[in-house]
This record gives sequence, C-alpha cells and structure tokens, in this order.
Amino acid sequence: MTKAYNTTLDLNQFNQYLTCNSKKFKELIPDNYPPFIDLIVTSPPYWDMKEYGKVEQTGYKQSYEDYLNDIEITFATLYKLSKETATLYVNIDTLKRNGKLIRLPDDIAKRLENVGWIHKDIIIWDKGKTLPWSHKGQMRNTFEYIYMFVKSENYKYYIERIKTVDKLKEWWVDYPERYSPEGKVPDNIWRFTIPTQGSWGTKKNFGDLEFKHACPFPPDMMARLIKLSSDEGDVVFDPYAGTGILLAVAEKLNRRYLGLDTNPEYKEIFERVTKPLINKQIIAINQTYEQEENKKRLLNEAINKLRILKFPKAIIKAFIKEQNQEFPFIGVFALSEHYQLDESEIALKKIGLASYYFILNPIADLYHEDVYNILREMSNNAPFSKYGLILNIYVITVDEAIQLYQDLNQNIYLYGNAVVNDAMFCISFVEFLEIIQNELINKKYCYKGIPPIFSNVEITLSNYEDILPDKYKKRND
Ligand SMILES: C[S@@+](CC[C@H](N)C(=O)[O-])C[C@H]1O[C@@H](n2cnc3c(N)ncnc32)[C@H](O)[C@@H]1O
Repeated sequence: MTKAYNTTLDLNQFNQYLTCNSKKFKELIPDNYPPFIDLIVTSPPYWDMKEYGKVEQTGYKQSYEDYLNDIEITFATLYKLSKETATLYVNIDTLKRNGKLIRLPDDIAKRLENVGWIHKDIIIWDKGKTLPWSHKGQMRNTFEYIYMFVKSENYKYYIERIKTVDKLKEWWVDYPERYSPEGKVPDNIWRFTIPTQGSWGTKKNFGDLEFKHACPFPPDMMARLIKLSSDEGDVVFDPYAGTGILLAVAEKLNRRYLGLDTNPEYKEIFERVTKPLINKQIIAINQTYEQEENKKRLLNEAINKLRILKFPKAIIKAFIKEQNQEFPFIGVFALSEHYQLDESEIALKKIGLASYYFILNPIADLYHEDVYNILREMSNNAPFSKYGLILNIYVITVDEAIQLYQDLNQNIYLYGNAVVNDAMFCISFVEFLEIIQNELINKKYCYKGIPPIFSNVEITLSNYEDILPDKYKKRND
C-alpha cells in the first residue's frame, strides 16, 4: 500500500493540528508504536449532510455503507492507538431520508463495537437552540446525542470534579443525611448552548475565510468532558477537529492535543480564531469551576456539621415515639471528635467520628443501661445509620454532664428549641449550669421533648449564604 503521507508523526511533538484524513492517520504512526491516546471527543460528519469544502472527506457524496466503512476504519485505528484507560465521546444525531428516520448514532455504535469499543453511556446534549420550523412527523429538534465508549473497565472517570451544588434541592438543610456532601452528579441531559456565529466575532475576524463552520463544540462542554475523563498531561484527540475547540480547551487545561481535519481552512481558523477566543473564554470557564469547588467545600462542611447536630434531635424524636416517653432527656452533648478516616471508612461514605452524651432526666422512668441499649440499636439501623457517623454513645447523669463540661475545655454552643442548624450562642460554664437547672424545672430550651443540644460544632447559617436555597426558612418540626 502506498503511504498517503510521506512523513511519520513525531509523537514527542504533541499540540498539533494536522491537515490529514483521519482514515489514513495510521500511516503517520510508526509501526508498533505503543497506545498514546487518553481521550477522544469528536463529532464526525453526519453522513452526507454537509460539504466541508472542496477537499476529500468522509460522508459527502458517499453511500451510507461506504460512509460507515470509513467511520469503522478510523475508529479501529483509534482503538489500537488508545490506552486501556481511554474514553471516547462521539457527538452524533439522527437524520431523515425519504421520510424515514436514519438512526445514525446506533449504526455508528454498532460499527464501533465491531472494532472493540464498549458502549457505556448516552448523554443527551440539549443545544438550547432550535430551528424555528418543524415538519409533519418531527418536533423542533433541540438535542443531539453524545455516545460514550471505553476500551476497558479501567477507564478514567473523575465524577467528583464535575459534581455541582447549584441544582441541589432546597431540603438539604433540613435533611442533610439524604444529600451527598460532595454535591450532585450531573444528570444525563446536558444543557450547553451552541456557540453562534456572533460569539465568534464578525466576518472581519475571518477576512476571506468567512466563518461557515456550522457546528463548533461549546467550549464549556469540552471542559466538562476533559475534566471528567483525563488528567493533566494526557493526550486529547479529535479526528474530525473542525474549528478545533476541543483542542484549544485541552491545551488551556494543561493537556496535550492532537487534531485532524482534511480541510486546511479549519486549521487556519483554529490558529487565527479559535485559540485567541478560547484564551479569553477559559478565564470564565475556570472561574465557574473554582466557584463550584468553593461551593462544594462549603456544602461539605455544612452537611457534616448539620448531620452531627441533627442526629441527636432525630434519634430522640424517634425514641420518644417508640418508648412513649415525654421528657426522657434534659440535654445532649454532640461532640465532633478529631479522627482520620481510613480508606474503607471513606468507601462506606463515613464522614467522621462523633460522641453523644445523652443526659437522662432524673425523673424519667428509665434505666441508663436500657436507654443505652435502645439508642445503640436504633443508631445501627436506618435512618440513623445513614448519617455517615462513626458513633460513641453514652447515657449520663446530670452530675456527670457537669463534670464533662469542665473536662472538655472547648467552646460549647447552644442549640435550643429543636433548631439544630443555627447556634444560639457560645455558653460559659455558669450559663451551662443555669440551663441545666432550668431544664429540670421549666424546660426553657426544650421543644416537643427535644432538649437543648450542647456542641463543639458551630454552625451559623448566614455563613453559608453562597449555597443556601433562597427560600429557606427555619423549621422546627
Ligand atoms: C461535524 S464537523 C466537526 C466540528 C468540530 N467538532 C468543531 O468543534 O468545530 C466535522 C469535521 O470533520 C471534517 N472531516 C470530514 N471528513 C474527514 C476526514 N475523513 N478526516 C478528517 N476530517 C474530516 C470536516 O472538514 C469537518 O470539519
């Protein structure tokens, strides 16, 4: 076979956009070269829908079978050149021919499976814009598909990097045990608006090369895929690079890139328009991720604190109901302990160690040991086992509580009237004694049997304004 290119690629020289037919890419690679691709994100031509310039290309004027054969050859080469940990995302859509829907995404998926790729997921890309018309038998189309493939089960998938806090339901403050402190995994409908011609500047920017490329990727969507499926220094690849948005974003996120396109005009656009544009846009993209990281740090801190403080309230509420007791306790210490979680505890979604000292009401008709056994048993079962806390539980007398306060030598905050998400104030020893005395008589800080909670954990909701739901109201039930 004659080589299409009389050069081989110097793989020490990444960050290249090559004018090259992806079907013939393997001819540039030295024989037996080890796999080097970490991530592929690409959008091949949608069969013969568009002519990408007067150059050789896949799709245009080809039969459907020839087109799919070209695609299969390309992705077979890329399979060989991809590492075991690699991921491939293919953006594609269905099309209509003679009134019939052609399921191009599935036909391509079958060809990719033929050459070894494992189909993992389907993401719906909601482009946020649609053409103003529709046809009979076709709604206005606003989405395309992103099919995810991998080479092995050892693929990179850093979901924590793309978790968000933004779309968290407002109930997380009241039900911290139900929400992950790490934020929320995005759902599989991704809303990223397609860049418009306007956002790429005017004709003037392009000189003679009036911007005709109708389908550039949204840079923020590329950033999400790059962060999800690659590390810094990895090789990010696009065999149908077009404007090269993926490549420019990859470079800015400290990855190496390689892109191919048969049309030399797009390489020119990449150098002259895409790169400067992404140089600007990456600032906003990075800011969004930094803000989200900051929000996730706040959420993590808040959820951990809220869980420690809500646990005694919730378990006492259940205890009162089950044991038919009115005022079993006159106070509880909820203490967060210094503790280094090991890997197995992290895998079990543990968040930390907490000690609870339940101060038994002297007039309650209960034995310490019985109460301890009931609380221990309850804490081992849902919902209390879902708090992610490694627990020490004690049942103590009023005298023992007074001794405990003195031994603690820490700031202790008061949570009264069953409000466990906003500290009332930091209490001194004298105030503590007063509160305990009061609780024995008039139950000033007790609400429906939930006694005051004394804790070394301080939470003030106003410190979490960046992540608090707008309509959040304090609730006492
Ligand atoms: C759907 S567009 C890709 C747009 C790109 N995702 C972006 O962000 O601009 C498909 C591209 O594939 C290129 N192309 C078509 N056949 C090709 C082939 N055999 N090898 C390499 N590139 C090809 C076209 O020139 C076109 O730029």
